[in-house]
Amino acid sequence: LLTATAVAALTSTAGAAFADCDEGEMVIKFSHVTNTDKHPKGIAASLLQERVNEEMDGTACMEVYPNSTLYNDDQVLEAMLQGDVQMAAPSLSKFEQFTKVFRIYDLPFMFKNIEAVDAFQASDTGQEMMESMARRGLLGLGYWHNGMKQLSANTPLIEPGDAAGLKFRVQPSEVLKAQFEALDASPQPMAFSEVYGALQTGVVDGQENTWSNIYGQKFFEVQDGTTETNHGVLDYLVVTSTDWWDGLDEEVRTQLETILDEVTEQRNAAVSEVDAEARQAVLDAGGEIRELDEEQRAAWLDVMKPVWEQFTDDVGQENIDAAQSINQ
Ligand code: LMR
Repeated sequence: LLTATAVAALTSTAGAAFADCDEGEMVIKFSHVTNTDKHPKGIAASLLQERVNEEMDGTACMEVYPNSTLYNDDQVLEAMLQGDVQMAAPSLSKFEQFTKVFRIYDLPFMFKNIEAVDAFQASDTGQEMMESMARRGLLGLGYWHNGMKQLSANTPLIEPGDAAGLKFRVQPSEVLKAQFEALDASPQPMAFSEVYGALQTGVVDGQENTWSNIYGQKFFEVQDGTTETNHGVLDYLVVTSTDWWDGLDEEVRTQLETILDEVTEQRNAAVSEVDAEARQAVLDAGGEIRELDEEQRAAWLDVMKPVWEQFTDDVGQENIDAAQSINQ
């Protein structure tokens, strides 16, 4: 006879939401923080789950936990090192505690568009960066795209001076803090799941994010409008624990890697479409979008770009040069 605790422990591994995990299958937990609909990461993670569970049935079973239901991005990497979760795809701004190489992605106006980001990541430098945290126990398995960031606040943002004195939520990144300091604004690092409430209650005045996040988290509902600045990029690293990955049977690892590579290629190729859909969804839901003319956008660049100088040593002048030549 099993005690009540033992029964609870047994059933909790399968869990009501994941009834398709069979006994004997290796459970792969994938934790992320966004919604699943009209969202590049949400869609990619769901597709990955579907394919693993179909093609690796009997061997492995993936459980995707979206919307910060399992961990926030500030907890997930520690949990991964403890072996409590096997995969995640935090934005590149969230690896600050582990490496500084990804700071290049946060530098404002570094990449012209997501195609330039893709080309940089495909280069030897971009590929090597995925292994930059191996010593710390984390391994990058691929990059997933999201898109370019836009700026919003509880007041219209047209000129850089409009941001002065306002509080902006940032991801936990020194570069992003410096970017808002350059605007004479005040950066407030905060977990993604807390941003809507913070905007609503006025704990912060504004934020920066991609269309899919602005739509998915409904930020537009509690902001005056969103200014289409495309001033920076938000992209993801699919990450796992080196220990866990190295401990897999070779056949299992190869199959998982092949599925992941295929999902990555397929969903990255569709990212502009998802981004455009999310932008349209903001408009359809009554959100205000402010477009900037060339001169107005150049004014934001003039104020933000000097931030590069503070981080050249961390990211390497040669990498900045490489990124810039891709933009041409
Ligand atoms: C954020 O914290 O704003 C983003 O990194 C969330 C995400 O995963 O897109």
